[in-house]
Amino acid sequence: MAFERSFRSIVILTGAGISAESGLGTFRDKDGLWTKYDLSEVATPEGFARNPVLVHDFYNARRRNLLAAQPNAAHAALAELERQWGGDFLLVTQNVDNLHERAGSQRLLHMHGELLKIRCGHCGYVTEWEHDLDLATACPACGRSGSLRPHVVWFGEMPLYMEEIQGALQACDLFVSIGTSGQVYPAAGFVAEVRRAGRAHTVELNLDPSDGHSLFAERLYGPATEIVPEFVARLFASA
Ligand code: OAD
Repeated sequence: MAFERSFRSIVILTGAGISAESGLGTFRDKDGLWTKYDLSEVATPEGFARNPVLVHDFYNARRRNLLAAQPNAAHAALAELERQWGGDFLLVTQNVDNLHERAGSQRLLHMHGELLKIRCGHCGYVTEWEHDLDLATACPACGRSGSLRPHVVWFGEMPLYMEEIQGALQACDLFVSIGTSGQVYPAAGFVAEVRRAGRAHTVELNLDPSDGHSLFAERLYGPATEIVPEFVARLFASA
């Protein structure tokens, strides 16, 4: 079934659910990362100050998992949508993995940062990084050790690219939220912002209804590798 209207400007928000079938754990599902780790210990600036070794171990393990993972059919479908779509397109991800770009996505913003980048707390230098990190690792720019951290946004820190994202949310006529529980702001508030702007069709694609599911005009539930390619095929049929 195709859509009754065609769209000119698409914003897609993704969360951990889109990478679940690539073998990367989600946060809040049964067996999710936040059921095994205390997020205040491993995902806050205060936790890092208290126990940097624990935080480095946590992100070193996640980095190694990511390097062994592959993009799945849902990442591929979104990359194909971007390649073939004539109108405006923006993919906003809360994920720190790089599976969207490895599938071919280009107009992509990582609002919670990137696991395969590190940042120096002394000089602010950001660089790509695929190795383990520890307190002895020296910053490639300023040479100091003990100052490097993953380039990810922790709780209590400002998400990235918010101005650009807000502009796209105001202007879009299709907003699609994929694989996110809707529990973390500001991303959880995007659907309400889009509704206030008043012109967009809103769609949730997820395994289960998210916290904000009732705010979406259309809702489809199932594994991302099935429902995302199906949804993209419907968009092409209506273009
Ligand atoms: P969550 O773990 O909170 O939610 C994952 C969502 O994906 C749930 O609603 C699941 O139902 C859904 N899901 C699981 N498997 C799926 C599948 N195969 N196909 C489709 N959906 C599936 O993850 P996020 O919403 O991304 O932030 O979490 C948001 C933020 O909280 C993360 O970016 C991270 C975390 O703390 C920071 O670290 C700053």
